[in-house]
Amino acid sequence: MNYMQYAKLTHHQNNYTVKKYLVSLSMLAILAACGGNEEKKETATAETTTTAAADDLSSNPDYVKGLELIGKSDCLTCHKVGDKLIGPSYKEVAEKYENTEENVTMLAGKIIKGGQGVWGSVPMTAHPTISEDDAKAMVKYIMLLKK
Ligand code: HEC
Repeated sequence: MNYMQYAKLTHHQNNYTVKKYLVSLSMLAILAACGGNEEKKETATAETTTTAAADDLSSNPDYVKGLELIGKSDCLTCHKVGDKLIGPSYKEVAEKYENTEENVTMLAGKIIKGGQGVWGSVPMTAHPTISEDDAKAMVKYIMLLKK
C-alpha cells in the first residue's frame, strides 16, 4: 500500500471533521508533491528523446552550454522543450525563427528585457541579471531544437 492509498483509507475511516480537514490538507500536499515530480520526469523524458533523435546534440558545445544556463535560471518554470506551458515550447520557438545572428541577438534581447505579444498576451518576465552572452547561448541551444 502506498502513502496515497493509506491517506485515502484514513480519510474514509475518519468521522471527525477536524481530522478530515487535516487529512485533506496533507492529501493536498501529497498531490502537489506528486504533480511536481511528474512534471520534472516529463521534462527529463522530453530532453532525452530530443537528444537521441537529433544526431548527438549532446556533444554539441552550444547545446550543452545553453542547456546548462537554462537549467540554472528560471526558464523551465514557464517553458518546456516539447509542450506549451506558460510560454511557448522551445521547439515552437525554434521552428518560428531562422537561426541567424540577427534573430539570436533579437531573442537574447527579449530574454533580458522581457517580451509580450508574439505568442499571446502573457508576458515573459525580464531577466536583467543575465548577460547578453549567456542569453545568446540560451537562444543558440533553443535554435538547435529545430526538427
Ligand atoms: C514567467 C514565465 C517565463 C519565464 C520565467 C521565462 N519565459 Fe520565456 N516566454 C514566456 C512567455 C509568456 C513568452 C511569450 C512572450 C510573447 O508572446 O511575446 C516567452 C517567450 C520566449 C521566447 C520567444 C520570444 C519571442 O519573441 O518569440 C524565448 C526565446 C524565451 N521565452 C526564452 C526564455 C528563456 C531562455 C528563459 C530563462 C532565462 C525564459 N524564457 C524565461 C514566459 C517566460
